[in-house]
Amino acid sequence: MSAATILHDRGVIARYRAFLPCIGPQTPVISLNEGSTPLIHSPKLSALLGRGAQVYLKYEGLNPTCSFKDRGMTVAVSKAAEAGAQAVVCASTGNTSAAAAAYAARARLGSIVLLPAGKIALGKLVQAFAYGSKVIAIEGNFDDALRLVRELGEDRTSGIAVVNSINPFRLEGQKTASFEIIEELGEAPDVHFLPVGNAGNITAYWQGYREWHALGKAGRLPRMAGVQAAGAAPIFHDRLVEAPETVATAIRIGNPASWDGARAALRESGGHIDAATDAEILHAQAWLAREEGIFAEPASAASVAGLLRAHAGASTAFPLASLPEGASIVCVLTGHGLKDPEIAKAGLPEIRTVRAEKAEILRAMGA
Ligand code: F0G
Repeated sequence: MSAATILHDRGVIARYRAFLPCIGPQTPVISLNEGSTPLIHSPKLSALLGRGAQVYLKYEGLNPTCSFKDRGMTVAVSKAAEAGAQAVVCASTGNTSAAAAAYAARARLGSIVLLPAGKIALGKLVQAFAYGSKVIAIEGNFDDALRLVRELGEDRTSGIAVVNSINPFRLEGQKTASFEIIEELGEAPDVHFLPVGNAGNITAYWQGYREWHALGKAGRLPRMAGVQAAGAAPIFHDRLVEAPETVATAIRIGNPASWDGARAALRESGGHIDAATDAEILHAQAWLAREEGIFAEPASAASVAGLLRAHAGASTAFPLASLPEGASIVCVLTGHGLKDPEIAKAGLPEIRTVRAEKAEILRAMGA
């Protein structure tokens, strides 16, 4: 095998081809070696829960464009390239657009991204431009952008492939994260916490767990625990949210496309959906960075906020006490903290500049 082949064999298509029936021998593999992200044990969350519980953080911020979207995008863009598309298009709260732009660049396809004006975290916007995407800001929110993309996608002769998670190839790729968790733990966890926005990810994880359970690769299925932001919680309230609002812009969505998939995952797994306030989300984000050395974007921290809420008894739907001794719990951290530098910066104290002298440094250190 050549060096190029060996390197190429590290993405999710190479690793899980046998479980991705949409990938045929003719499909060009457009990969950036995504996936294989670390499952990091959290000693502090484990101790906090007690009763021998083990909490793990699946750090998806370590994908090539720093979010879980790369898993689905490698499959969706590979299929778009196979179908002879000229370009890809998506609506996004930022991470999907970054991933679409990167994989399109890799595949030599054009990319067009529709973003809610003023509501995209800076890092994600910079990524879309850096990867050479055509960025269109719309007067409206993500739900409006997705409606427009659906309309654009209706013209099958346009040569433009829609790569939102309404494209089933996206979910195919994203389900591989469940496989990785099962491989690392040797079993599915008891509970799986994750943030929920457009609901593609909860649908994909549940699909992945079910598939490997059916194949006997996992002896059980986890309970799926979805967490929405309180100001953008249509699934939690079971009604559309006209004007979703949250500091976690990635999940600022009022009409999730995969609502049915989320419903099925919650019902079939005996899971629950919860809503965390912005304050709880920001607290979880800061806590993760300070206590565990892991920096995740606000939407990602919603999973941990949900776990902390369950622990505090704030989420009546999910009594952690009903779990067995030594339960294993996975929280997915979907995107990197550097995606949203402005949110992180808002909490910074003022930085004081001192003279470059030892005495000054000692004084500044508070010695
Ligand atoms: N976490 C992050 C960091 C996200 O970017 C998203 C979704 C989610 C969680 C929720 O996942 O939508 O599958 O329920 N971001 C999409 C985007 C909407 O356009 O980047 P979901």
